[in-house]
Parts: sequence; structure tokens; C-alpha cells
Amino acid sequence: MIKLSDIRKIYNKGKSNEFEALKEVSLTINDGEMTAVIGKSGAGKSTLLHILACIDSYEDGEYYIDDMLVKNLSEKKLAEIRNSKIGMVMQDYALVDDFSCIENVLLPLDFAKNKKANKTELAMNALKSVGMDGMAKKPVNKLSGGQKQRVAIARAVVNEPSIILADEPTGALDSKTSAEIMGLFHKLNENGKTIIIVTHDMEIANQCGRIIEIFDGKIKF
Ligand SMILES: Nc1ncnc2c1ncn2[C@@H]1O[C@H](COP(=O)(O)OP(=O)(O)OP(=O)(O)O)[C@@H](O)[C@H]1O
Ligand SMILES: [Mg+2]
Repeated sequence: MIKLSDIRKIYNKGKSNEFEALKEVSLTINDGEMTAVIGKSGAGKSTLLHILACIDSYEDGEYYIDDMLVKNLSEKKLAEIRNSKIGMVMQDYALVDDFSCIENVLLPLDFAKNKKANKTELAMNALKSVGMDGMAKKPVNKLSGGQKQRVAIARAVVNEPSIILADEPTGALDSKTSAEIMGLFHKLNENGKTIIIVTHDMEIANQCGRIIEIFDGKIKF
């Protein structure tokens, strides 16, 4: 379970360009929920996702993942949480362009405590789950946008995280390819993953069991 209480995020604290990007955000997301986060540009959607992903800190409030308080933790501990519990998918895929599909999917396994021999098998299984096992050795810069996003999803799930966070995962894709990528998120959700998708697209948002709107750094009810 994910629980945020009264989270405040301030960029450039104490400087003349100080900016409060999240204001007293409280939110509970149960295991297995599929949630869309919507809101205008600059509302704070990515900021929220980065806090949830433990890649950004916050000034006030508390963030719990599975009853563990994510606050004042060492970089090592944060990396451990990210690796074991969270998979991230970005609009621009964030793949290593001149690596092959399988090399990209192997990356998170290098940080995890898996036996070496096992890693290739895990990466291949992840690629298979998104229909990309046939292109395992192809460099990702030779792939279409939809294929790249499939590889990015394989990389996000290879460590079997319980939570998948996606920031505009279909933002760069045409509607047919978007629907295919959403199909993968639905499949992951059916298999018990908690999914949180930031989107501008109401058609995508309406496919999620729950919609959260952020307005000026606050959750709109
Ligand atoms: N690193 C940063 N330093 C200073 N201000 C920032 C930083 N990142 C984001 N902001 C500001 O915080 C606010 C929220 O940004 P955020 O990226 O969360 O918006 P968003 O809802 O994801 O927007 P978009 O839909 O355009 O992606 C914006 O006003 C933005 O300018
Ligand atoms: Mg954003």
C-alpha cells in the first residue's frame, strides 16, 4: 500500500525562485489498484510521481510504502526500495539507445542480488511478456516507438516490482500503439501490480479504475 499524508514539495527552497510544487497532498493507493493521474501542464504530476518513485525528496509530510516510512533514508536504502518495489516507465522510454533490447532489460538486474546465470533468463522472460523476445539482440535505436516502450516496460518489470509508475507512457505514440501499450498495463494490473499512470489523455485515464486530478499542486476532489 502507498500512503501519502500532507506531502509538500518545494523546489529551490530558501532561494528567490522558491516554488511549492505540491501542497498538502494526502493519498492512499491500495495494492492492485490502477490509477490515472491527470492535470494541466505544471500541476505537479511528475513531481508526485518522482516522490512516489523515491527519486525525489519532499519537505513536509510522510510517505509510506507498505508501512515503511520513506523519509531521511540513505541513498543506498532508497536504491534498494526502488529496485525491489518500483518499476518506472517514461514518455521518452529512457533506454540506452545503442544497447540491445536484452542489454537494456539486464540493467536493473545488475543492481539486484540475482545469480548471474539466472539474469539472462529473467530478462528474456520479461521481453517475452511484452512480445519482444524475438528482437532481444536488436539495438533499441532500430525499434519503433511502440517497440521501445515495450522494452521499457520489460525493464520496469524484470525485478518483479509490486508498483509500476508511468509518466505519459503513451504520450509519444499513435492511438493504435497507445492501445497496445495500455493492453500491457492492463495485463500487469490483472496480475496484481499496482499501476499509476500520468496522462493527458482522458481516453487512457478512463480505462483506469480511479482518476486523481492534480490542480496547482493539490489533489482536486
Ligand atoms: N527541478 C525543478 N526545479 C524547479 N521547479 C520545478 C522543477 N521541476 C518542476 N518544477 C516546477 O514544478 C511545477 C510542477 O512540475 P511538474 O513537472 O510536476 O508538472 P507536470 O504536471 O508533470 O507538468 P507536465 O504535464 O508539463 O509534465 C512546475 O511549475 C514546474 O515548473
Ligand atoms: Mg510531467
